[in-house]
Amino acid sequence: MTNPEISSVLKEKRVFPPPAEFAAAAHVGSMERYRELYRRSIDDPEGFFGDVARELHWHAPWNKVLDWQLPFAKWFVGGKTNLAFNCLDRHLGTWRKNKAAIIWEGEPGEVRTLTYLQLHAEVCKFANALSALGLKTGDTVAIYMPMVPELPIALLACARLGVGHSVVFGGFSAEALRERINDCEAKAVITADGGFRKGSTFALKASVDDAIKDCPSIRHCVVLKRTGQDVAWSAGRDHWWHDLTAKQSARHEAPALDAETLLFILYTSGTTGKPKGIVHTTGGYMVGTYLSAKLVFDLKDDDVYWCTADVGWVTGHSYIVYGPLLNGATVVMYEGAPNVPHPGRFWEIVERHRVTVFYTAPTALRTFVRWGDEHPNRFDLSSLRLLGTVGEPINPEAWMWYHRVIGKERCPIVDTWWQTETGSIMITPLPGATPTKPGSGTLPFFGVEPDVVDATGKSVKPNEGGFLVLKRPWPSMLRTIYKNPERFKEGYWKRFPGFYFAGDGARRDEDGYFWIMGRVDDVINVSGHRLSTMEVESALVSHRKVAEAAVVARPDDVKGQAIVAFVTPKQGMQADDDLRTELRGHVVKEIGALARPDDIRFTDALPKTRSGKIMRRLLRDIAAGQAISGDTSTLEDYSILARLRTDDDE
Ligand code: WTA
Repeated sequence: MTNPEISSVLKEKRVFPPPAEFAAAAHVGSMERYRELYRRSIDDPEGFFGDVARELHWHAPWNKVLDWQLPFAKWFVGGKTNLAFNCLDRHLGTWRKNKAAIIWEGEPGEVRTLTYLQLHAEVCKFANALSALGLKTGDTVAIYMPMVPELPIALLACARLGVGHSVVFGGFSAEALRERINDCEAKAVITADGGFRKGSTFALKASVDDAIKDCPSIRHCVVLKRTGQDVAWSAGRDHWWHDLTAKQSARHEAPALDAETLLFILYTSGTTGKPKGIVHTTGGYMVGTYLSAKLVFDLKDDDVYWCTADVGWVTGHSYIVYGPLLNGATVVMYEGAPNVPHPGRFWEIVERHRVTVFYTAPTALRTFVRWGDEHPNRFDLSSLRLLGTVGEPINPEAWMWYHRVIGKERCPIVDTWWQTETGSIMITPLPGATPTKPGSGTLPFFGVEPDVVDATGKSVKPNEGGFLVLKRPWPSMLRTIYKNPERFKEGYWKRFPGFYFAGDGARRDEDGYFWIMGRVDDVINVSGHRLSTMEVESALVSHRKVAEAAVVARPDDVKGQAIVAFVTPKQGMQADDDLRTELRGHVVKEIGALARPDDIRFTDALPKTRSGKIMRRLLRDIAAGQAISGDTSTLEDYSILARLRTDDDE
C-alpha cells in the first residue's frame, strides 16, 4: 500500500447484469461487442475516432486525426466543422425537424417546448444579434443565467460563431464572476434580470452590474427578462435580449470553423486559490460528447432524456446541451429546486414528460432517500428505462435505493466518472453490455486508457489503492488552461510523467473494474460541486479580522463532504458566533453560497509541522470527530495536538 489515505475498504460483491431485453435493443449489447470496440479504439484510435467523426458533418475533412505533442493534443487537424450546425441544422433535413429538442419546465410550472426547427431559429437570431454587437470568432463572452432555454440558446449561438463561452454558475457571487470575466477578458456578458429558485426569485443582473464595474474588457451586457424584477440600466452597454433579437433573421449560415477553435472555457477548482480556466475546443469535444451521449445513455429517437445538472457545470455543457443535441435527442430541462412546490417534483416531471433516461448526482439521491420513498412512489415512473449518476462516488446504499425505488429493479444504472477537464465520460458501464456493481464506475469508455499507479507511477496490483491516471490522449480532453500552459503542464502532467493525473484516488478490482475513492489533493466535493480548500482559505484570510485559516472537508451523509474552517482571528478580535456569521457571509460574498463553511472552529494557532506546513490530516481527523464545543468563546488549541505528533511530512 503506497498511500494510506486512499486505502480501500469497500468490498461490494453484488453484480447486476444488464436485463436481456435492454441488451437486445442497445447500441452496444454485449461484453463481446464492448471488448471488440474497445480493442479497436486502443489499437487504432485514429481509425476508430475518424469513423465516429464521419457520422457528423464536416465542412472540410481533416488531414490528420491526432497530433500529439505531449501534453498538447490537436484532434482532427485541419478539419472544418461547426458544432451548432451539427446540433441543429444537421437534423433539419430529416423528420427530426419537428421533434422536440428541449422540453423546459420553469419552477413556477410553465412548460415550453422548442422543436429542432424552433431552437435553430432562436439560435440563429441570437447569433445574428451577437454578430451585430461586433462579436466574432476568437472573442470570449461570459454567460451568467438561470436554467431557461435561452441558456442553451446562448451557448449554441456562441458555438455557431466560434465565440468562446465561459459559463459562470448562477450561484457564484459577483466577486467570482468578476474574476472569471477578467481572466478570459470577455467582451460581453449574457445574463437575465434574475431567476426562480426555491419558491422565490434571485437577482443576476445586480451581481453583473457589481462585477463589471471592474471589468475593462466588457463592452456589452445582454439581459434576458425572466422574472420582471427591477434592474438598473446602463444605456449603450445594456441591451434587452428581446430587443436585440426582435428584428434579427432566423437564418444564419454556420461558418466553417477550424476543429481547434476555442469552444469554451469553464473555470474549475484546483489545488490553489485561483480557479483555472479549462479550455475545450470544437472538433474533438464534439466527437467525444456525441459518442459518449449516444452509447452511455443508449440514446434512441423515442427517448426523453433528462439530466438534472445545471448548465453552469460541465455536466450541463456536455450532457444537457451538446451531447444529446448532437444525437437529435429530446432533452428535458428544469429550472428550479427538487422540492418546489413539493418533494416529489422531479418524479412528477418524469411522469409528466414520460422521461426514459434520467441522469443525476449522488447527493441528490441521498437527499431523496432522506425525504422518503412516499414521494417517488406517488408518481408513475414506468417510462424510465435507464438511470445515471455523476459527480462523486456513489455509496452502495444510495445506488441500491436508486435501483429499487426509482428503477424498480428494471433499469440499468450507469455510474459515470469524468471531470471538467476530460470533457466527456471516461469510465462508465455501457448499459446494454456491462454488468454493474454498486459503487463502481466499472470500465473505461472507448479510447480511454486509465490505470491505478503508486507514487512512482507503477501500476498497482488489483484491489490496491493508488492514483488514477489516464495514459493516452482522448478527443474531448482539455487543451490547456486558458493563457496558462505552464499550469496545465504542472497541474496534470508532471507528477506522473507522460500520464494525465486526474487528482482522484482509485482501486481496480480483480475484474478490472474501477472504484473511485475521491480526491487525493486539496479539492473538496460538496454536493458534487468542486471547490478547492485554498479558495475558501483565501476568501477567509481576505477578511480583516482573520489572521490565518485552514479549510478541510469532513464526510457528510447528504452532501458527500462538508466544509470545515479552522480560523485564527487577529489579536484582540472576539471569536464568537457573530464572527462566525460574519465570516460565513464573507465567503458567500467572495465565492458564492456553495462555498459557505458548514463549521467554523476558532483556534489560537493552527497545528503545523516543524517545517511550517499546516497538518491537514490532523485537522481532517479533528473535523471528522467531535462536534464543536458548546462554549463558542474559547479558542481551541490544536498546536498542542500537533506537538504530540512526530511525523513531519504530511
Ligand atoms: C468526482 C464532474 C466518483 C471526481 C463531471 C472527479 C466522481 C470530480 C464521479 C470532477 C463518479 C465525478 N464517481 N467520483 N462517477 N464523477 N467524480 O470537474 O473526484 O465537476 O475528479 O466534473 O468529481 O468534478 P467536475
